[in-house]
Amino acid sequence: MQVVVVNEKEALSTYIARDFMNYVSGHNRVVFGLATGSTFTGVYKKLVHQHQNSNLSFKPVMTFNLDEYMDLESNHPQTYRNVMNRNLFDCVDIDKRNTFFPPIKKNIRFSVYDDMIEKAGGIDCQYLGIGVNGHIAFNEPGTSFTIKTHKVALADATREANKRFFDSKDQVPKHAVTMGLSTIMKARRIVLAASGEKKAEAIRGMLYDPISEQMPATVLRQHSNVVVVLDRAAAQFLEEGEYDTTEIFGAC
Ligand code: GLP
Repeated sequence: MQVVVVNEKEALSTYIARDFMNYVSGHNRVVFGLATGSTFTGVYKKLVHQHQNSNLSFKPVMTFNLDEYMDLESNHPQTYRNVMNRNLFDCVDIDKRNTFFPPIKKNIRFSVYDDMIEKAGGIDCQYLGIGVNGHIAFNEPGTSFTIKTHKVALADATREANKRFFDSKDQVPKHAVTMGLSTIMKARRIVLAASGEKKAEAIRGMLYDPISEQMPATVLRQHSNVVVVLDRAAAQFLEEGEYDTTEIFGAC
């Protein structure tokens, strides 16, 4: 695991947007795994800016989002499809037929999503956030490391954390469909980003706690190509020595 620490959230967005652009410019076809959540909003803003002001094209890009809420109307502003449309897809030249979300219809085999990813050639780079309880995508503590895309009941801590996007906690859906931990671990490269002191404890747990299903993000230590990008607040419990750490505290 490589750890990159930058000054603050703005620099984190710049770092990840550049990482994304490097992929796009070097390839005529690239498959990304994408995350929603506030950590990535700034990244998408920068990518839209690059598209509008320089020659960044999303024509070669295919995307698979990590997760989707169940039980929201399809026109609800907080479905992850609508969040991604608003923040990125509607603002760039991506072919929306190449943008995918986990299936949320009832009576469907959710792991069909894994088959779709495999058919697309697998994910080149998976961008990930982390929950305050160490969840990745919506894989809550206690989830098997071997699970594929599946339906989940959201943890209380997650519904509490996500109520900021809704009028009240009651309106946060109780269920979602998420890529499984085994789906995520199949990506050829993984970039996890975290910003702010609220994430510091989850980052400490991911890096130093025993690898355990009680702390889903620890599974990433079993992957050979992971970059963790943190701002200083999220990195406050980092210990010296254990990881290959790059610090970029100036302009990024
Ligand atoms: C949410 C999402 C995750 C996201 C994480 C962090 O519940 N399901 O995919 O990465 O929690 O969100 P944020 O970036 O808003 O802190």
